[in-house]
Parts: sequence; structure tokens; C-alpha cells
Amino acid sequence: MKNIGIFGGSFHPPHEGHARAAKAFLEQMELDLLYIVPAGKSPGKRRLFGATSADRVAMCGRTFCFDRRIRILNFELQRAGDSHTIDTLLHLRQTHPDASFYLLVGTDQLAQFDQWKSWETILDLATVVALPRDASPLHIPKAFNLRQQQHTIRLRSFRPLQISSTQLRACRRGGADISGWITEATNAYIQTKNLYAPLTSHRACKAFVAELVDPKRLYHSECVAETAFDLACKYGQNEHKALLAGMLHDCAKQLPPEEQRQLCAQYGKPLRGIDDGFPQVWHAFAGEALLSMEGGISDPAILGAVRWHTTGHAGMTAFEKVIFVADMTSVDRKFPDVQTVRDFVQTDLDDATRYIIGYFIREKKREDTLMHPDGLACYAELEKMITIKDNTAF
Ligand SMILES: [Fe+2]
Ligand SMILES: [Fe+2]
Repeated sequence: MKNIGIFGGSFHPPHEGHARAAKAFLEQMELDLLYIVPAGKSPGKRRLFGATSADRVAMCGRTFCFDRRIRILNFELQRAGDSHTIDTLLHLRQTHPDASFYLLVGTDQLAQFDQWKSWETILDLATVVALPRDASPLHIPKAFNLRQQQHTIRLRSFRPLQISSTQLRACRRGGADISGWITEATNAYIQTKNLYAPLTSHRACKAFVAELVDPKRLYHSECVAETAFDLACKYGQNEHKALLAGMLHDCAKQLPPEEQRQLCAQYGKPLRGIDDGFPQVWHAFAGEALLSMEGGISDPAILGAVRWHTTGHAGMTAFEKVIFVADMTSVDRKFPDVQTVRDFVQTDLDDATRYIIGYFIREKKREDTLMHPDGLACYAELEKMITIKDNTAF
């Protein structure tokens, strides 16, 4: 009877930690075959971007090529809809009816295993092998009965690497060399296809955004980038950064609100109580989170401009105002007062910012809705600042 291992994951990209886990899995379970299964769309998880499914399969082939018992299985990628381990397991069971199956899962996944689709059937069909991230004891779900507990094993003498694919993507986006963590062939593939390219050019930013938004929103982003570039030149700001911030500002706009909320929490800046009634502004906060965590952007000017492009806030920098105003005055904007704001911005950035927020305060009042408190604080501050400016002018 054959021993068959299953090791699923996003592999986005596959790295040395994955290879090390696969080696330990092969040895300790005395596997005859190990299937590496790049995941399709995981239920409740964010869509993957930055590399296509075909890229992930190709990178797996270039990472797990050290042992002839390993096969790359793209079963989950060929199926439409959410991927479930049970479907993969049932599929393999059909092709290997007499085999013993071993399923490798991270300890964090094991802790929530009783949430997986048909988890009890999975435990009937396979032994779960936990892949520890550290030396802490296994957290086996309370729902497991004694037999199911016995079907759960820990991978021994395994020294996990403290790296993740998310960190590697962000490092590469940030311009760092990640060749020490991936195979030479995988690195060559990433370089050739320019995957996870650093967001330092308009082209790379556009490609990043294009995977997240529809063509209309992409066109808007391009228009904002152009306007931001012009305004930055006019008001002595860094025009290259303005071009990038303009291109990136709405990157999270079309993610589902719950995903936006999750991103903010993961980033360590969860939505605040005051944001609760304003889901239309969450994309700006989520955009900052996404760009920092996935995009490898660490420049506080760009992150701040994305964060505050919808609400504004008290203490806005000139650069933030440039992106804020560019967002409202780009050529694709059609709201009634847009020409007035375009006129204002020819002479004064503060005036234009104040006019936009004032316009929306009036609009919200007309619709019997509230303006976000950060916008109100920004408006109050600008009113004060402009009054002082006006008084000192005479
Ligand atoms: Fe926006
Ligand atoms: Fe926008």
C-alpha cells in the first residue's frame, strides 16, 4: 500500500520554508508520492494577485524539483469557485483507491480544522500531519474525538523558517533581494516575468491596480495620477511620488467591505468607531494597508495620501492635499461644481481642498446624511487657516 502526502497552499511564491517542510514530510511519513497542490480560491480568503495560477504552478515546479516522488497537482486551479480540501482528497482517492493519505496542514490551520468543509470525512480519509511554526504544543480542536485526535500527528524535528510568502512579496515589492529564500530557478522565473515588481514606476503601479479594479476605475486612477503630477509640479511637491500615489489611491476600492475591514485590522490600524457608519471611505484606509503589506510601500507620504484621499483630516500635508484635490478634479470627474474647484486649484491648494469638503458637507446635508468626522475636522481647520491668511493679506 502506498503512502501519499498532500501539501496544499497558495505558494505565492513557494519558498525555502515550503521546500523544507516537503522534505521533512517525505522522510517522516515515508511517502511514496507527495502531491503539491497550489490552492484555487480559498473560501473567505482574499483573491490572489501579483501572479497567475499558471505562474504559481510554474514556480512550484521550480521549487519542488529536488525529489522524484513529488508531483504538482493543479486540480484545484482547474475548478471554478472555492477550493475545498475534501474535493481534492476525494479526487485522489479515486485515482489511488488503496493508498494511505497524509494531509499536511499548518498548526494555525489545524486549530480551525473543525471549520473546514466536511472535516470529519477528511479525518476518515486521511491522517492530518501538523506543520509546526514554532515549539508550542499543538492546538487540536475540541470537536475532535479520541480517534480523530489519534489521526493527528505532529511533524517532528522540523525547524520551521520564520518567513512567509506575504513577507517575500512585500520585500520584493520594496526592492529587496529575496533570492536567499527561493530556489535559483524560481528567482529566475520571477525576474523574467517581472512578478511582484517593485511599485516604483507608473507602469508597475498600473499593473498592480489593474488586477484589483475594473477598467473604469483603472481609467479614473490614471486620470488622477496625471492631475496629481501636474498639481505636484505647481505646488512644489514630489511629482514622481504624486504620479504613483494618484495611480494607487483607489487600489482597494472594489474589494468587498468586509475584506477592507480585515485588511485594516491585519495592518494594525483597525477601523475606528467613528468609521463604522461610513463604509464608503473604508477603501482609503484599506488601500494604505494593502499597499504597505502587499505592495511593499513604506513611504509615509504615499501611504498618508492614500489613507486620507477620501476624508481628509486635520493636519493634512500639502502632498496629501494634492492627491485629495487631484482625485476630485481629474478629467473624468463630472460633479456640478467641478469646474469651480478646478479654478480654485489654479490659485490656492488650501482653498480648493476647503471648497471640496464644503461642497460635500452641503451635499450630505441635502441628503440628510453625515460627513465623516475627519472631513469635518479638516474643514474646520482649513476655515481657520484661510481666515487667518485672508486677514493677514489686508
Ligand atoms: Fe477613493
Ligand atoms: Fe478616486
